[in-house]
Amino acid sequence: MIIAIDGPAGAGKSTIAKILAEKLNCTYINTGAMYRAVALKLLKIGGKFSQEDLKEIFEKTDINLVGDKVILDDEDVSEEIKDEKVAKFASKVAQVPIIRQILIEKQREIAKTQQCVIMEGRDIGTVVFPDADVKIFLTASPEERAKRRYEELKSKGFHIPYEHLLEKIKERDKQDMERKIAPLKPTDEHILVDTTGKSINEIVDLILKIVKEKQGG
Ligand code: DC
Repeated sequence: MIIAIDGPAGAGKSTIAKILAEKLNCTYINTGAMYRAVALKLLKIGGKFSQEDLKEIFEKTDINLVGDKVILDDEDVSEEIKDEKVAKFASKVAQVPIIRQILIEKQREIAKTQQCVIMEGRDIGTVVFPDADVKIFLTASPEERAKRRYEELKSKGFHIPYEHLLEKIKERDKQDMERKIAPLKPTDEHILVDTTGKSINEIVDLILKIVKEKQGG
């Protein structure tokens, strides 16, 4: 079974997908983390890259998802890739066809070996697995998403102005939705789940119900 969870930055995809994976005994795959790992690697190397350079670099690069840990060339980069700079660059590198091609192949490869997969990202139900058994489009207003990010950072001791976070979210939405290749958008098959004002438990229960209905049908 393949459950695709697509949606914009900060909609709660990772939190929800992780809980669902545990409840349904599925493998959780965070494709955003893969784009972030690619971005981190390129930021570390620095400079400009041709398509050929990128191909060569990523032929020799190892990106592995182990549970919710992200391992880049044997190094645990799970925390480093959460940085706002990495997120912004990930959204940019995600526009490069050769990078998408390499990562999509990898995503399909991982899923092939699993009984049940919950894969979250932007293009899972549209491009990676157009035949996914369940397609969820998780969303929330930009204001709610910025508020959640603000609270999350505050709890870690970082005080970033809410307005700044809202601006960053809107900027990334625009970049992800308006790009030419695999833009973020729901298909007719996606079930829209608006998480604004809902608790994590409510959202998880709602999606579990959708999955059960699909399985029954
Ligand atoms: O989900 P995230 O915020 O960690 O993703 C980081 C960036 O990666 C996001 O801004 C767009 C890109 N991305 C993508 O293009 N396709 C995916 N399937 C997942 C992420």
